[in-house]
Amino acid sequence: MLIRKPTDLPYSQVTPRSTYLHRRRFLAALTALAPTLAAGTRLEGIAKSRFSTTEPPTPYKDVTTYNNFYEFGTQKDQPAAYAKNFRTRPWTLTIEGEVAKPITLDLDAVLKLAPLEERIYRMRCVEGWSMVIPWVGFPLNAILQKVQPTSKAQFVAFQSFHDLKQMPESRWAGIPLPYVEGLRLDEAMHPLTLLSVGLYGETLPNQNGAPLRLVVPWKYGFKSIKSIVKIDLVEEQPHTLWSTIAPQEYGFYANVNPSVDHPRWSQASERRIGEIGRRETLMFNGYTDQVAALYDGMDLRINY
Ligand code: MTE
Repeated sequence: MLIRKPTDLPYSQVTPRSTYLHRRRFLAALTALAPTLAAGTRLEGIAKSRFSTTEPPTPYKDVTTYNNFYEFGTQKDQPAAYAKNFRTRPWTLTIEGEVAKPITLDLDAVLKLAPLEERIYRMRCVEGWSMVIPWVGFPLNAILQKVQPTSKAQFVAFQSFHDLKQMPESRWAGIPLPYVEGLRLDEAMHPLTLLSVGLYGETLPNQNGAPLRLVVPWKYGFKSIKSIVKIDLVEEQPHTLWSTIAPQEYGFYANVNPSVDHPRWSQASERRIGEIGRRETLMFNGYTDQVAALYDGMDLRINY
């Protein structure tokens, strides 16, 4: 959706005051409606990234209608339907904990933190399917550097928005909410770790985690937490949703690893959405050259 730029001429110069005030109220009402305008707004000034894969992106329709977002239903087609009216403005993101400069930012301030890039990443879900998604965002480390982690900060804990009024289906999600996830600090600072605000050149559709979400392409998709409201820098490894409710199935690290099976299925291959047949799953989802060093000396069968 195209948002028109306001003209340079103030209304007060061209319009009688009563009409002008009326229009002001009308515009204020429009702003209140912004959530419905926000998703799908074209983002400007996006640079291409050298970290992008050259594999063809999964069609927009599949990326936006085949989703996991339990707050809006547990079936793949439900988030697109039930997140339609999700209000993502106003939105605040708080970053606190073991940092010298805790901060709360609104969305516009987040968008100004760093230049936006398009990052076309392979994404692999723990359920055995994969996609290629042209994300828009910037490295999470831009925001972490701003708050200045203290020497005690070892991990980063993330929390999603949760509101039963806006997310009534979440009552039947069968998982404790709000959704929480975590990374080790060096994983969070890694240049591949993205704070995403968009995809396919537009602001994020609600079902994909509007208005901002994490994207960690070498880990199973559940690490890429959606609709983030809080980032906490902490000393100890934080609780994460899936590893808390099913620790034997989902580890804290959750690196894509074709040689470590899920207890109920193999992780050796995957179904790329939109393709026929299956393809081999790659170690670290194909990002070995960039991330393997993070895990030097670790047994990734134990730390799955
Ligand atoms: N974040 C929240 N808050 N709630 C969720 O249910 N699902 C996760 C992850 N982030 C989820 C979430 C899972 S299991 C996957 S595979 C990805 O989001 C899916 O992201 P996508 O729908 O944009 O492809």
